[in-house]
This record gives sequence, C-alpha cells and structure tokens, in this order.
Amino acid sequence: MSPSSSRPARKAVIPVAGMGTRFLPATKAVPKELLPVVDRPALQYIVEEAARAGLPEVLMVTGRNKAAIEDFFDRTPELEAALEKKGDAARLAAVQESTEVAQVHFVRQGEARGLGHAVLQAAAFVGDEPFAVLLGDDLIDARDHLLEQMLAVQAEHGGSVIALLDVGRENIDKYGAVAVEPTADGGDVVAVTGLVEKPPVEEAPSSLAIIGRYVLAPEIFDVLRETAPGRGGEIQLTDALATLVERGEPVHGVVFTGRRYDTGDKLDYLKAVVRLAAERDDLGPSFTAFLREFLSELPVEGASSS
Ligand code: UTP
Repeated sequence: MSPSSSRPARKAVIPVAGMGTRFLPATKAVPKELLPVVDRPALQYIVEEAARAGLPEVLMVTGRNKAAIEDFFDRTPELEAALEKKGDAARLAAVQESTEVAQVHFVRQGEARGLGHAVLQAAAFVGDEPFAVLLGDDLIDARDHLLEQMLAVQAEHGGSVIALLDVGRENIDKYGAVAVEPTADGGDVVAVTGLVEKPPVEEAPSSLAIIGRYVLAPEIFDVLRETAPGRGGEIQLTDALATLVERGEPVHGVVFTGRRYDTGDKLDYLKAVVRLAAERDDLGPSFTAFLREFLSELPVEGASSS
C-alpha cells in the first residue's frame, strides 16, 4: 500500500458540469442537480450524504449555466433576515441548513469533456490523498450507508473502490461495466479485474454497472492526464480505472442492493420524488392518501376505455 492511500479519505468531489441533455428543456436554464426532489435540490441530499460519511470538505466541479449552484450554497442574508423578522423559525432553519452542512468549494470545468476530465479538475484541491467522488445526479437513500462502507473498504485495502449495481444484462450498455472476482471479505465486496464503458450487451463482462460513488486513490490524476478521449469523445473515468487495474493497483467494488435514483433520468426522478414524499412525516399521510385514490382511478392496463 502506498503511503498516500493509507490516509483515510477526507474530501469529496461532486462533478456537476454535465449538460443534462436527458432533462431538456428544463436544463436549458436550471442545472439538473438543482431540480427539486420534494422541497430540496437533489444536490443537497448528496452534500448531506458526504457530510454524514465524515467528508465535510466538498469541491463541486461546475461549468457554464451552473451559477445557480454556487448561489444555492451561498448565504442569503436578506432572505434570512426576512424570515427572522416574520418569526418563521422552521424555514429559517431549512435555509441555513443548506449552507451549513459542509464547506463547499468550487472549480470550473471550462468545457464538458467527460467525467474523467471533470474529476481531473479536482487535483489541486485533493492533493496526495484518497478522496470520494459523488455524482451530482445520483441519489442514494439516506438509510443505505453505501459511502461509509466504501470508505471502510478503501481504508482496509487501499487503492480505489467503486460502487456497483446489478442492472441486468439488457441494461448494461448504458453504464460502465465491470469484470469481478470474489474476495476474502465475501458478500458484497469484490475485486475488480476489468472495466469497460457502455459495452454492447453481448460483450459486457457482467451485469454489474458502475454507479455514482467512488473512493479514488490520488494516482488516478496522473492516469487521467494521460487518458485519451474514449467513448463519446469524452475522457472517461472508467478508462482511467481500467488503466489502474491493468497496472495491478487494487480496485475493489461494493455491490449495492439498496435504493438508488438517477435523478438525471426522467422516470427515476419521478420515482425518487414519489417515494421520498410518501415517506416524509409531514407530507406522507396526505400524499399517500392521494396516491391510493389516484391509483384506484387509473384504467386497468389492457382494459377497454369505452
Ligand atoms: P452524465 O453521464 O449524467 O452526463 O454525467 P450529463 O451530461 O450530466 O447528462 P445527460 O446524460 O446529458 O443527461 C454524470 C455526472 O458527471 C458530470 C455530470 O454533471 C454528472 O454529475 N459531468 C459529466 C461533468 O461534471 N462533466 C462532464 O464533462 C460530464
């Protein structure tokens, strides 16, 4: 294990510079990471997750049209004063919570040249220590402690750790796919022996897909500097991880079986909003009553409407 990777990860990098084409036209003016999931942006859940996992130093990699993200994590003295004057303590607390949860820094990715290129912009912030990457549109349910487990695996084995989800063979061509072997840890911790970005279904090494959580060794930066554009003409983080594996650096996977939503995808976004709203103490009872009524009124699939 190199000295750098024996240090525990303390910093989180959240890339939010993607174009969000799957959510157009909404994302023409609003970054997809700020689309509300019930009453807070998807991104706030992600920053809270990083803080809960013991990573209070957060760097966001932003791009054009993303100024609203910087505004969101900035203090709003006028709004806070107005709420204080009205005696609206609950909303004041909600506003302050969004800025106090973590120390958020920003760096720009001049051009959206891919996730690998976005991560490379974090090199100066991270320095020579392992760090976490949380994708700004990938929501992991707060009750599932995926990132904590990944940090523990990294602390034990060194190297890098990626989150994996079995998406079924038929869907694997939309993801980075991995070849894996079991480890002595057993269960959900595997050794990654190969990675390929969005392979054709028949060439995929498994149905295990890379999802938006990584704990990376700082060696990834040197590899990314040498990684040529790959799939889609973008600098792919998957390709850089494949190089680490080829060089014999340890890369482990944690196979996730909990609740995860890709909020950059319209259907998954809707599922996240419905599920999280239904589970909220304040909204849940009346929202689920509405859902039951709504479902009972829906025409049965295949039945004639006349
Ligand atoms: P996506 O693959 O979801 O791409 O990026 P995208 O461009 O944001 O969205 P679509 O597919 O066009 O709808 C995964 C994550 O990587 C970030 C995105 O912001 C997202 O969090 N990303 C992607 C960057 O920061 N920079 C890039 O150049 C590409």
